[in-house]
Amino acid sequence: MSEKKPLLEIQDIYTQFFTESGVVEALDGVSFDVTAGEPVGIVGESGCGKTVTGHSILRILPKNGKTIKGKIIYKGINLLNLTHNQMRSIRGKEIAMIFQDPMTSLNPIFRVDDQMTEVISLHRKVNKKEALDIAIEMLESVGLSDAEKRIHDYPHQFSGGMRQRILIARALALQPSLLIADEPTTALDVTIQAQVLEIIKEMQKKLGLAMMLITHNLGVVAEITKRVHIFYGGRVVESGPTEDVFINPQHPYTRALFDSIPSIEKDKTRLETIPGNVPRLINPPKGCRFHPRCKYATEICSRERPEDVWLGPKRRVACHHYEELDLDVDEETMRERVKIKEEV
Ligand SMILES: Nc1ncnc2c1ncn2[C@@H]1O[C@H](COP(=O)(O)OP(=O)(O)OP(=O)(O)O)[C@@H](O)[C@H]1O
Ligand code: SF4
Ligand SMILES: [Mg+2]
Repeated sequence: MSEKKPLLEIQDIYTQFFTESGVVEALDGVSFDVTAGEPVGIVGESGCGKTVTGHSILRILPKNGKTIKGKIIYKGINLLNLTHNQMRSIRGKEIAMIFQDPMTSLNPIFRVDDQMTEVISLHRKVNKKEALDIAIEMLESVGLSDAEKRIHDYPHQFSGGMRQRILIARALALQPSLLIADEPTTALDVTIQAQVLEIIKEMQKKLGLAMMLITHNLGVVAEITKRVHIFYGGRVVESGPTEDVFINPQHPYTRALFDSIPSIEKDKTRLETIPGNVPRLINPPKGCRFHPRCKYATEICSRERPEDVWLGPKRRVACHHYEELDLDVDEETMRERVKIKEEV
C-alpha cells in the first residue's frame, strides 16, 4: 500500500461544551486521519461525538462549545490557529459538509439558483452566468432532471431526496478536497436513501474526493468506505481498513456493534441497541468509557484509560485486553449481514 501523506490529521483533540449542568466532555482525545481521495467511515452509536467531530473540524461549534486541546492539520496547516476570516475560506471551498436534514440547510425564501450561484461566485472566480452554468451542470450530475428550468424553483417545490441532491450539488460545485457527509440520508425515505447514497458514492469516485462519511449504517460503510474509525463515548476505539475491522474486530465495542446488526433478510442494517446506555459525557465513566457495558471488563478497565495500540500502519485499537480476546466474526455471516462487496 502506498503511503500518502494524510490530507487531514486530527491529533488528540478535546472538544467540550460548557453547560449549566457541567462540562460535557464530548471529544476526549480523538485522533484519526483521512488521505486525499479516500472515503472514510465514521461509525458509532448516537451521542458518541461524530457530529461534534465534523463541527470541530469546520469550527462551527455553538457558542458554548470549544476545542480546547489538540491539532486539526489540514494540508499541513493547523485549522485551530486560523483566524475567522481564514477559516471562512476553508469552509465550503476546501472542506464541505452535508448535514443530516436537507430542509434546514436551504433557505426557504430564496430560489435554488440564488442559493447555489451565491456560494459559487463567492468561492470561485466566475461571473454570474458562469456560476449559473456550473450550478446547472452540478444539478444534472446529481440526477436532477430538467435542471435548467427547475433551478429557478424554491426549496419547498422539491422532495426531500431532491433537496439533498441539491445540497450535494451545491457542496461539490465548490470543488472541495474533503466532504464531510453527516448522516446524509437519515432524514429521507428508505427508497430514496439508496439513490442518494449511490449519488454520493459516484461523485466521490468521479471527483476523487476525500470523504468522511458519518453514519449508523454499517452496510453503507462496507459498501462505500475503505477505512473506518469506530467512535465510542467521544473517543476512537478502533480504526483500520474497513474489511479488516469488519471481519477481525479487536475492540469489544466494535464486535458488539456488529452483533447488533439485525438480519439482512429484514433489509435493516441500522444499529439496534447494545445492552446498557451510551455514557453521559458529563462525568463520563473513568478508565475505559465502555467498561460499564463491556462483558470483558476487569478492574483495570474502570481505572486506567486504554491507550492506542498500533497493530499495523493504519490499524489500531484502544483496549486493555484486546490480545486476550478472540472477537473474530465468521466471515460468511459478516458478508451476509452487511453485504461486504468482494472488492472492498
Ligand atoms: N450544544 C451542545 N451542548 C451540550 N452538549 C452537546 C452539544 N452538542 C453536542 N453535545 C453532546 O456531545 C456529545 C456528542 O454529540 P454528537 O452530536 O457529536 O453525537 P453523534 O455521534 O453525532 O450522535 P448522533 O448519531 O445521534 O447524531 C453528546 O453527548 C451530546 O449530548
Ligand atoms: S478496555 Fe476493558 S472495558 Fe474497555 S473494551 Fe477493553 S476489555 Fe472492555
Ligand atoms: Mg450526529
